[in-house]
Amino acid sequence: MDTNVLYFGDNLEILRKYIPDNSIDLVYLDPPFNSKKDYNILFKENGGVESEAQIKAFTDSWHWTQTAQDTYHEIVTKGPLKVGKLIGALYDAIGGNDVMAYLVMMTIRLVELHRVLKPTGSLYLHCDPTASHYLKLVLDQIFGGKNFRNEIIWCYTGPRKTPKKFSRKHDVIFFYTKTDHYIFNQQTIPHKSGLHDTGQVETFGRLRKDKASQEQIGEIRKLEERGKILEDWWIDIYPTDRVRKEMLGYETQKPLALLERIIKASSNEGDIVLDPFCGCGTAVVAAQKLNRKWIGIDVTHLAINLMRNRLRDSFPGIQFEVIGEPKDLSGAKALAHQDRYQFQWWALGLIGARPLGEKKKGADKGIDGVIHFVDDPAGKVSRVVVQVKSGHIGVNAVRELKAVVAKEAIGVLITLEPPTSPMKVEAVEAGYYHSPIWDKDYPKIQLLTIEELLQGKTVDMPPQTQTSVTFAKAPKISKKEGEQLSL
Ligand SMILES: C[S@@+](CC[C@H](N)C(=O)[O-])C[C@H]1O[C@@H](n2cnc3c(N)ncnc32)[C@H](O)[C@@H]1O
Repeated sequence: MDTNVLYFGDNLEILRKYIPDNSIDLVYLDPPFNSKKDYNILFKENGGVESEAQIKAFTDSWHWTQTAQDTYHEIVTKGPLKVGKLIGALYDAIGGNDVMAYLVMMTIRLVELHRVLKPTGSLYLHCDPTASHYLKLVLDQIFGGKNFRNEIIWCYTGPRKTPKKFSRKHDVIFFYTKTDHYIFNQQTIPHKSGLHDTGQVETFGRLRKDKASQEQIGEIRKLEERGKILEDWWIDIYPTDRVRKEMLGYETQKPLALLERIIKASSNEGDIVLDPFCGCGTAVVAAQKLNRKWIGIDVTHLAINLMRNRLRDSFPGIQFEVIGEPKDLSGAKALAHQDRYQFQWWALGLIGARPLGEKKKGADKGIDGVIHFVDDPAGKVSRVVVQVKSGHIGVNAVRELKAVVAKEAIGVLITLEPPTSPMKVEAVEAGYYHSPIWDKDYPKIQLLTIEELLQGKTVDMPPQTQTSVTFAKAPKISKKEGEQLSL
């Protein structure tokens, strides 16, 4: 089995195709939560607008469609007996609705994840109170209630208007093992770091130090150094939006410190960590930092692109493989045929552009993605705006782009088909963008085909500096033990 690999695709298919039985030491999964709000927030666009294009990618997982019905049927008829019985009973109680669709989608994947775990392996399922009660029932059936180890409550604070209820500020992380013999490295924290830790050792130490003998003071010191054994409620890890250095602009990104803690507790160096819903790759980055091998899976090209950049920025020179992306023109055509949004995100990724999504307002109408850069002494951010066309197009497409680009620096049109001669003429007539810092001219409209991009051609634009990168750049990570990056 290959490790240090990012797979693009539905994790159910990837698990079945590539991951053998009893091969993984630790699974961490953070699936989209079963709450519309959190789900949409996954792909919130600039200005907080929800992206219908991206929701499309998961429609089958979130509504009682034929896929949900088929998955239900598969679990009930071919799944482990106890799991089938539970899902059948829940279906009787809940019916075929969105919650049930989410549950069957999760159940079939959790059965696979149990299969791939080594007998000494552990699974951490990160969820929230909207679905945790259902998921625990499912996990108990798949892993056996006796292999339930913890329900970790990760608490945080932050502003939120909730006029008629308490502000919800915690996530739930279920920890299960496959058997009784599992890897667990006890974790400790400094005695002062827990909010509710009233400093028992400190107080004890202060009281005792007045009257204590040297020997007793030595004992107290040892106790202090050893730290406090971690409990199942964690309040010392800030959410990502309060750890500025880590923020990559991916709404559901989890903090590195959280993943480091889980990985240190339930694996050893050289072990294999799998994240089947890996988003912008926090578990993968934590695993790499802690000298574990890793496998990441995500079903959007958006996430795969982000992760690729994050890994390269965090660990310069890192070697890893991406499996499942189109490698040639026919693969690109197949992707465009299958799903034009995925095609768009993938194509935008070829030039490092950030997708904007579907519901664009004002100036962003007609733009699929952007690349930001700064080439102005005052630090003003400029944009390369990008359109991706998978179908047959003519000179009008270039004219439309020209209109959009009037107030921007550079416009790029990515096409599957080669541009026609009139398109090329129209592009050339747009003239140049002059960069004040580099004192250089760049073609205002650039036409790039997928084939050219696959051969390595890229946008002719001013170099991107640290402050101008399109996706926030991940900080370089040393393999030294580290605390949570500064706030
Ligand atoms: C909540 S996010 C994970 C965030 C991640 N823990 C991080 O720190 O960035 C869930 C991810 O699961 C992915 N996803 C949803 N359904 C999937 C599926 N069936 N197969 C693979 N990935 C999926 C989404 O694209 C999304 O990136």
